[in-house]
Amino acid sequence: MADTLTITDNRTGKKYDVPIVDGAVRATDLRQIKTSEEDWGLVSYDPGFLNTAATRSSITYIDGDQGVLEYRGYPIEQLAEHGTYLETAYLLIHGELPTADELKNWENSIESHTIVHENLKQLMEGFRYDAHPMGMLISSVAALSTFYPEAKNVRDAATRLKQIHRLIAKVPTLAAVCYRHSLGLPYNYPNNELGYTENFLNMMFRMTESRLEVHPVLSRALEILFILHADHEQNCSTAAMRAVGSSEVDPYSAYAGAAAALYGPLHGGANEAVLRMLESIGDVKEVPNFIERVKNREVLLMGFGHRVYKNYDPRATIIKRTADEVFEVTGRNPLLEIALELERIALDDDFFVKRKLYPNVDFYSGLIYQSMGLPVSMFPVLFAIPRTAGWLAQWQEMLEDPEQKIARPRQIYTGPARRDYVPMNRR
Ligand code: SDX
Repeated sequence: MADTLTITDNRTGKKYDVPIVDGAVRATDLRQIKTSEEDWGLVSYDPGFLNTAATRSSITYIDGDQGVLEYRGYPIEQLAEHGTYLETAYLLIHGELPTADELKNWENSIESHTIVHENLKQLMEGFRYDAHPMGMLISSVAALSTFYPEAKNVRDAATRLKQIHRLIAKVPTLAAVCYRHSLGLPYNYPNNELGYTENFLNMMFRMTESRLEVHPVLSRALEILFILHADHEQNCSTAAMRAVGSSEVDPYSAYAGAAAALYGPLHGGANEAVLRMLESIGDVKEVPNFIERVKNREVLLMGFGHRVYKNYDPRATIIKRTADEVFEVTGRNPLLEIALELERIALDDDFFVKRKLYPNVDFYSGLIYQSMGLPVSMFPVLFAIPRTAGWLAQWQEMLEDPEQKIARPRQIYTGPARRDYVPMNRR
């Protein structure tokens, strides 16, 4: 049997053989199917891209039915168990685990860029004290594009790599500035003697002490969370990074577009929405009533459901286990009982089972962040920090892919047919 699709157009009786490659047909192969020479030809229609591959990619593999997630072939469970975030970022960007020397050079390259230009402080001063940190982060990363005009040279590999180092290094610094600004606290400079996550926590929480002592369980928990959030193939924000980047704009501007997409409550903003949901439920006794409201379509069960995972999100499994370790140190988060009861009921209720709705990466992560003293509004920022490596790996792969062009989807026009202008006195 040939790897082709034979299509019969019943409007004309014509038959077409379309090649099937890697389980896909090319949408442009449909254009030959016409009813007349003037006919543009068939277009594929897929709002929300439920069944459209926009790219080939070798970065991340997900099997939604089996609950499998692998970065460059390495299972997420093993990377979370044995790896560090910067090691994982190297893997995503370069495609292989680094040797000891490669990792040291990579860490040094990133450490040399952790400080941000002092002018950015004035930019931050312009925000109200209660500005949402994601709005501040998106704006400040976009502003970084004005400090590095050479970044526009996106076709030069060495220039791209330097911006990749800068973004991985500077996003945590900017994130900490956003947090400190909201409290009116002085900004902390990075301390490159610390590891990536410990340095971030120091910039966030250090007060007058020369170095904030971070409990090793907490810094390891944040390292694991960063590893788990580092990439997730063609999700909404990655699709934004690729689409914005396809116009050959600099990576800082593309990053701002990706972070803006992540900010939405249906995507990376869900971790914040989960905590606000748990706080609004308030007591385990109120859970059945809330579940009824979800089933009546009044509210969504935030942190549940996924476009790809129709099984338990493998990241949620690891995060739930990590939460137990964190609570050993910080004390049990009282909202955990509500989350566990929501999960218990939902996994047994036909409304959720039928729709294959399981906890996703955002369901338990916020409980850890809150127990570590991180404010709820910072949760989407805590998603953006590690996803920086994934967005940049995907952006670079898009630029290096000879098949990629500027993103410009087609449409099905449903508006009025051509008509003439109507003078005001005849309207
Ligand atoms: C992330 O794509 C990625 O990889 C994203 C991500 C990443 O790492 O980048 O994994 C991170 O964004 C995780 C998702 C975080 N979002 C939330 O937790 C918000 C709550 N979840 C939903 O909004 C929803 O599940 C989505 C957006 C995540 C997925 O939506 P889909 O794939 O478009 O599915 P759908 O909306 O078509 O839902 C199918 C059905 C619908 O019911 P019916 O109309 O068929 O009767 O399930 C229902 C939905 O109403 N449904 C939910 C629900 N999620 C889906 N009902 C109640 N609560 C929910 N959470």
